[in-house]
Amino acid sequence: MANASGFFTHPSISSMRSRTHLPIQVSGSGFCVSKRFSKRVLCSSLSSLDDNASRSPSQYRPPRLVPSGCKLIGSGSAVPSLLISNDDLAKIVDTNDEWIATRTGIRNRRVVSGKDSLVGLAVEAATKALEMAEVAPEDIDLVLMCTSTPDDLFGAAPQIQKALGCTKNPLAYDITAACSGFVLGLVSAACHIRGGGFKNVLVIGADSLSRFVDWTDRGTCILFGDAAGAVVVQACDIEDDGLYSFDVHSDGDGRRHLNASVKESQTDGALSSNGSALGDFPPKQSSYSCIQMNGQEVFRFAVKCVPQSLESALQKAGLPASSIDWLLLHQANQRILDSVATRLQFPPERVISNLANYGNTSAASIPLALDEAVRSGKVKPGHTIATSGFGAGLTWGSAIIRWR
Ligand code: ACO
Repeated sequence: MANASGFFTHPSISSMRSRTHLPIQVSGSGFCVSKRFSKRVLCSSLSSLDDNASRSPSQYRPPRLVPSGCKLIGSGSAVPSLLISNDDLAKIVDTNDEWIATRTGIRNRRVVSGKDSLVGLAVEAATKALEMAEVAPEDIDLVLMCTSTPDDLFGAAPQIQKALGCTKNPLAYDITAACSGFVLGLVSAACHIRGGGFKNVLVIGADSLSRFVDWTDRGTCILFGDAAGAVVVQACDIEDDGLYSFDVHSDGDGRRHLNASVKESQTDGALSSNGSALGDFPPKQSSYSCIQMNGQEVFRFAVKCVPQSLESALQKAGLPASSIDWLLLHQANQRILDSVATRLQFPPERVISNLANYGNTSAASIPLALDEAVRSGKVKPGHTIATSGFGAGLTWGSAIIRWR
């Protein structure tokens, strides 16, 4: 992922295929390709791969500068059918609706059950986004699945690509960054479009944290729900660019406050390492522990770092908070939303919030809330949105974007 010290994406020759290929430089604390900042972007297109394939290294043609913009053109979302209310939770842990609603703003959440799968939810959300964008699946050239809970350890994106029918020259891979995943997916989509010649990128945020929650721990089980949300990001003229700026960070030191670590099986497998001449080999089978969280520390981190990150992203975009139509934060806790809005002097009526219905859906929460706000007519074409994701890692990041 992008980090505070910056990174380069530089596609290898073998990954270039028939696209136009553009190395891009991304400054550590974010990058911008709005009209205001186009000079800061180093986009360069290689002349065609075919041209260069026959050349020796000394004959290789250097990159040509070609700035490109990108914009959001469609959204979709999906949630499991099983609804679990605060009252339902009060039947399994020592809690009550009043405590949960007052401390978090959450009333209900959706939880996967039966034949639900994360891939199924992601495909449903993506299909709706493609319909709204009026983009055919075969015209998608990149699927980014932002999730920390894939159905398959090796990733879910290629399964989604297959299920959608993205058959023409597609690439698909997962991004693991918990509740910051969707914002980092937008960063990656922008890099691939501006620096890699990709045209239509599907960014999906989907998580099923319910599978990693300790349902006997009232400190965490009340918070989380499952969902998927998706957007289509499309290449456009630089003048029409709708992803104005990003600000992204991570801090591994904070992992102790929020994690779901790998753990060895308690029981020895058939090939026990006990007494083996090879010492600890072979390793025991592993799985993941349930979510461990110090809620107060995560709360403190969010109300401190998220406003700073948003202010930085606004500054890079050259926009004051007063010019932004909507504040759309990762839906973690209504008190975090309120605190960040107060700090940035955002009036409550311009803060998008749907966590009462879904709880914290991790990477899905921003695209899910965006999709609901778009479909309800709240967010209209041309509206600007300040968005921020934050959570495990720790990771956090903000984006200033325009809807359509
Ligand atoms: N029901 C009733 N009482 C409870 C519950 C519950 N569900 N949970 C805790 N309590 C009790 C505690 O035991 C404690 O009791 P005590 O005073 O007798 O010791 C009291 O309520 C206060 O507990 P706190 O933990 O101090 O409650 P707090 O106000 O901090 O709220 C919460 C807890 C909601 C978890 C809050 O800290 C929070 O939202 N933190 C942020 C979490 C977050 O945003 N995570 C996002 C990242 S997720 C990701 O990236 C995957």
